[in-house]
Order: sequence, then structure tokens, then C-alpha cells
Amino acid sequence: MALKTTDLKPRIGSLVETDYDSLMKAAEAGDIRRLLEERGVLVIRGISIDDERQLAFTRALGPVGDRDTGMIYKVTFDKRENPTHYHYNYGNFSWHIDRTDTDVPPYATILAAKRLAPEGGQTEFANTYAAYEDLSGEDKRKIDGLRVLHRLESSYREAVPDPTAEQLATWRGHPDKVHPLVWHHRSGRNSLVTSMSGTEVLGMDRQEGEALLARLMAWATRHEYVYTHEWQPDDIVMWNNTGTMHRARRYDLDCGRLMHRTVVLGDEPFDTQRRVAAA
Ligand SMILES: [Fe+2]
Repeated sequence: MALKTTDLKPRIGSLVETDYDSLMKAAEAGDIRRLLEERGVLVIRGISIDDERQLAFTRALGPVGDRDTGMIYKVTFDKRENPTHYHYNYGNFSWHIDRTDTDVPPYATILAAKRLAPEGGQTEFANTYAAYEDLSGEDKRKIDGLRVLHRLESSYREAVPDPTAEQLATWRGHPDKVHPLVWHHRSGRNSLVTSMSGTEVLGMDRQEGEALLARLMAWATRHEYVYTHEWQPDDIVMWNNTGTMHRARRYDLDCGRLMHRTVVLGDEPFDTQRRVAAA
């Protein structure tokens, strides 16, 4: 591989030293996807990219997602920049995997920093492959086959404990989904499907289920699995949404922090077994 990379933490994250043309070539050659599989999070510094370049790069990784927010989604609470969907961002403060309200989540997300928070606003990432691998054999046996109900409202509640009726209606517009606790990937690797959207373990006593989810969340966010990104102007950060979770640290919502986000659609359902069974 032509790219020069440096590990940010032993178990997660690499800094990629490159220029835009080399980055595009690496994306087209599949090298970026391979790195995302191996390292979970990639950071590129010192290349200022506009929306057109960000989209071209995203497209080189796979089909671009546009949800209902356009292909460039502005992650900000600045209503001039994002008048209609800024409320989605409240969920960003809780550990989550993007789009647990779908069966097939995005493969990767790319953020380009446009305006930074003067304080806070770091983004944290946790490697859910590594967290699974390090579980004891007993825990692996215990959780294999367990299924968890995911409700986006649970992610939002952490940041907005007293939501308005309108906020509640928006959150509840997203469907509940049931996902396995262990994601058996087509590659043969396994990762944890831990996310604050996970509310109950099906078929388990409610309190016991909540305790298990809390214990796994605490485990998966241990120091060795987590990389905390301190943003600098023009940083580009991307992550493999199928093998990591992430969250933003709190910042002043009026400070104008702005990231441009693009998404690479996924093709692997959380429940790979179900797709095989249905085929
Ligand atoms: Fe997210």
C-alpha cells in the first residue's frame, strides 16, 4: 500500500498522511476500505476539501447515501446551516452505531471539519470488533444468539431528558428494530452491536437485560478500545460504522460547530443469518 499510516491507538485509529490525488487512488484501489476494516477510524490532516471533492471521494468508496437530508448533511445546531434536521444531532452525544433504525446500516461515514467548537466537541470512537474479541469464552457463549430491541428515542433521551411533544413525535417516527447482540460478519469476524439505542434484551428479565447491556457498553468503551479525536481545522475523519461506535463530547450548541458529513451505504445487515435464511 502506498499510503503512509501511523497508528493512533494500538487497537483503533490510524493517521493517514496523503494528498487528495493519492487518497482518491487509494479509495479506488480498495485500500481505504481495507484500512477501515483493520483500523476502524482513519484521520487525514492538512487537506482542505470542498463538498465536490468530499462527494467524489465518498463515491470512490461505494454508493453514497442521501437519506432525506441531501448527500452532504451538515452536522450542526446552527439553524441557518441546518434549518430542518438539526434535531438529529442530539443523538450524537450518546454512544451509537449509525442507523440502528434500519436493517442494513451505512458502511462508513466521512466528516470534514468546517468550524470547530472552542471547547469540547471531540468525537470518540470505540472498536466493537476488539471489544468482542477480548470477551471471555463464557461471555461469548452467553451473548451469542441474544437479540436486542433498538429504539432511537433511547439514544436521544441521554441528551434531551425532557423532550417536547414535537421531539418525541420525530424520534418515534423511526421504527424500532431488533438486532443480534453479536454481529457475525460475512468476513468471519464478529463485533458487538452495542449502542445506546439498545433498550431491552428479548426474552430476558428486563432488569437483567439492562444490566447486561450496561456492562457490555462499559466494557466496549474501555480506554484501550477508544480513540478520541481532537479536531483541527480541515480535518477529515472517517469510520467503519459496522465495526465501531461513536459519540460526540458535549459542546456549546450555539458555537457554530459545523461538520459536513457524507455516508457510504452498507450492504451487510446486522443480522447476516436472517438474510441467509431468507434467501
Ligand atoms: Fe452518528
